[in-house]
Amino acid sequence: MNAHTRMDREQGDVNTSLNREKYWSRYLTGPAREWFEKDCRYFLHQSLSTPVLNVLSRAEGIYVEDMSGRKYIDMHGNGVHNAGFNNPEVVAAVKRQLDEGLSFCPRRYTNTAAVRLAEKLAEITPGDLYRSLFCPGGSESIEMALMLARQVTGRFKTLSFWDAYHGTTFGAASISGEEHFHGGLGPLVPGAFHVEFPSYYRNPWGFTNPGDVDAECLRQMEIVFQREPEMAAVIGEPVSAKPVIPSKAYWEGVEALCKQYGALLIFDEIIEGFGRTGKMFAAEHYLTPDVLVLGKSLGGGIVPFAGIVTRERYNTCRHRSIGHYTHEKNALCAAAALAEIEYIEKNRLPEHAAELGRYALERLNGMMEKHPLIGEVRGVGLHLGIDLVKDRKSKTRAVEEAEIIMYKCFEKGLAFKTIEGNVITLRPALTIKRQEMDLALDILDEAIGEVEQGKKY
Ligand SMILES: Cc1ncc(COP(=O)(O)O)c(C=O)c1O
Repeated sequence: MNAHTRMDREQGDVNTSLNREKYWSRYLTGPAREWFEKDCRYFLHQSLSTPVLNVLSRAEGIYVEDMSGRKYIDMHGNGVHNAGFNNPEVVAAVKRQLDEGLSFCPRRYTNTAAVRLAEKLAEITPGDLYRSLFCPGGSESIEMALMLARQVTGRFKTLSFWDAYHGTTFGAASISGEEHFHGGLGPLVPGAFHVEFPSYYRNPWGFTNPGDVDAECLRQMEIVFQREPEMAAVIGEPVSAKPVIPSKAYWEGVEALCKQYGALLIFDEIIEGFGRTGKMFAAEHYLTPDVLVLGKSLGGGIVPFAGIVTRERYNTCRHRSIGHYTHEKNALCAAAALAEIEYIEKNRLPEHAAELGRYALERLNGMMEKHPLIGEVRGVGLHLGIDLVKDRKSKTRAVEEAEIIMYKCFEKGLAFKTIEGNVITLRPALTIKRQEMDLALDILDEAIGEVEQGKKY
């Protein structure tokens, strides 16, 4: 696999492969084909989205359903479906808010839904995180976190991680570590430095001892702190999207460096927040960051909404604006967010994710014993990854195999996304039951077996 292929596939499966064409020829028929072609005609094409995979007619609970009536357990969901797609309690809250006659709330005013949401976040976010600010999307919430860090520290440099994705605006693209999202753009925001994330399975030094990986990553981070003084913030996902799950010692080491060099620590929990990792927030596995960035599921899987939560002592920008967004206190979005959080709490979804995640990981470990294609399985809560390799010694990424497995799984009723070309990511709605998880893992098991036997798509 050349470097270019790898870059293409950094964040997901590509939409231009031969297998994708075969999938279209088999599954896009009748009206679905017509809508697909119109979509191709009217939208700007871009990698990872248009031309699209298929046309959906429903997204409900753990499932998406295509226009031809095929249902798939969706383990991607773009991360918005923690409480399940179209959750009836979130839908009811949104309808109630519309019926009350206050859906939009112009800036300069507030409303009870927005205040209740901010109060709720002050209550449930870790440690002394307390003050919120909202905006429509995750990329913008990252911008607010960066602007807050600049205002608080009076500095502008940032330290983040290679291979991370934090969004598509210029600031977010600058701190992201993937060529795919900034190649061809020219100069980005100055002062964005990157270091390695502590990947215990794949790291540039070939280390296999997690302690050695942590030590080297922290050593390199400290070098950047020393050579690039005046760092405003370190920003990262506490658990990466791959997923890579750092040790507690690693994040404590990062926190200590931030304190020593006067930088804020920002956690991007746009994917990992709201129960995904088996705790309400992934930070709870580690420590309290200075800023917690939220998005995706915050909108209840229905509306776009995102935001930051930070400490009282950083409430210092009264004379300036760092998030002057039209939808800052959108009542409809706030009502959806509140209903989503209440549903997650009432149904103890973080606890369920922890328990079912442990079970799924055990099953995946069992699958690894019989499938040489599986190099490693990893995960925390319902945030799981299967790293497929051509052989376990070289750890060469099994990119072609992963793509065929993915299309075979679509055929059998399971949808997910691959990342870095060869890592199958499983992030179902947290409402998924054990029998449904079993069914999904049976499908995956069968598809991996077929590819190992040399079957093509
Ligand atoms: C970790 C992470 N941060 C930020 C973003 C950007 O969020 P949005 O797409 O809502 O702008 C994403 C989106 O995928 C993400 O996964």
